[in-house]
Formats: sequence, C-alpha cells, structure tokens
Amino acid sequence: MQLFVDSANIAEIRHAAELGIITGVTTNPSLLAKEDPTQPVEKIIATIYDIVGGHLSVEVVSTDTDGMIREAEEILSWLPEATIKIPMIPTGLAAVRELSRREIPTNVTLVFSPTQALAAANAGATYVSIFLGRLDDVGHDGIGVLRQVMEIWDVQGIESEIIAASVRHPMHIVEAARAGAHIATVPYKVLMQSLKHPLTDAGLEAFLRDAAKRRQQTLSV
Ligand code: E4P
Repeated sequence: MQLFVDSANIAEIRHAAELGIITGVTTNPSLLAKEDPTQPVEKIIATIYDIVGGHLSVEVVSTDTDGMIREAEEILSWLPEATIKIPMIPTGLAAVRELSRREIPTNVTLVFSPTQALAAANAGATYVSIFLGRLDDVGHDGIGVLRQVMEIWDVQGIESEIIAASVRHPMHIVEAARAGAHIATVPYKVLMQSLKHPLTDAGLEAFLRDAAKRRQQTLSV
C-alpha cells in the first residue's frame, strides 16, 4: 500500500518526502485554507509538485459540472500532472465522466458508502477516496465500509484505485493495508506517529549508551 501525505503544508510535505515514505500528496480546500494566504494556491501546488513529483490531488470547489470542468482545466494549466479531486455528488460524477473521456485522472472525494464508491468507479474515477475517520466520527465503521468496498473491487475486478482517506491514527493505516487499500493518505502528524515505537527509542538509547561505555573503556586501557 502506497502512502500519500494529506497536507498542503510545505514544511510537512518536504520532511515526509525526505524520509522517502510518500509517493504523493492529497490537498483539499480546508488544508489549503490553513496555509499562507499571501501565497496563491497555484504557487503552493507548484511548490508541492517540485518537492514530491508524484501524485498530487487538487480539489475543485464548483458544484456544477461545467464549473468543475472549467476549474479542472485551470488546475491543469498550472500543473498538467495534477489529479483532479471531485466531490461525490451527481454533478461531480458527470464531471468525472467527461474528464475520464479526456483521459484526465480524477480522485472522487467524500465517499462514505460502497454504492457511492461503485458509482464513482462506473463514472470513470481513477481514484476513489473512502473517508474512514469521518465515518467513525458519526458512529459508523469506517474500516468496515472500506472492507466492503475492497470485497466488491475484488469480486468485480474494478480498476479504480482505492484511497483510504480521513485517516486519524496509525491503526487506520494498519487496517487499511490489511483490507487491501491501494493507498492511504495520511496527515503528517499521524505519519510521524506511525514511525514511532517506544521500544525503538529505548533500544537505541541502550545501544548508544553501551557504545559510549565501550569507547570509554578502550580509551582507559
Ligand atoms: C482526502 O483526500 C481528504 O483530504 C482528507 O483525508 C480529509 O480528511 P479529514 O477528515 O481529516 O479532513
């Protein structure tokens, strides 16, 4: 399972990319709204692409099909490699269908059920993002929905790639990988949490202490 970072913050993306653990970035309007308002969105997007160079999802904010397609064209004029993120609404599906006809990659976002996922795939979505954390927030089972989607994908041989999104903690990464998600897009904080283990820290501390002790002993012989 590939990992993307779900962020529009340059420092976070740069660090995650330096570690070599991510192959892409997903942004959304709320993530972009947290960043420097003096920087135009196209500049932030271009900087992110310079850093990671892989998948980069950029979301439209229109809610009508023509508006979404116009926005997609505008995004592609700044970044031809962008994947266009489209909300899972009927007008969005029509936009996905048209973009797919033009062979433009799309990521259908705000997907909360297997029927929505299936509709997005049938419309021609390249990626379908299942929102785990937001399902859990309303008392539903995010991972359970993801498992159902992966089972359908398996049985039906559907090609759209499934992104486990709205990831809130490292166990979401584990369960998404177990369920067979193709990608998990993970906030920077959760990505860093997922690298830590107290036994790694304690083990390293002991190794360094013992190495220093041995150096000391060698010097005093
Ligand atoms: C996915 O592409 C979205 O940007 C993201 O995962 C939303 O997650 P949230 O529920 O943490 O806002």
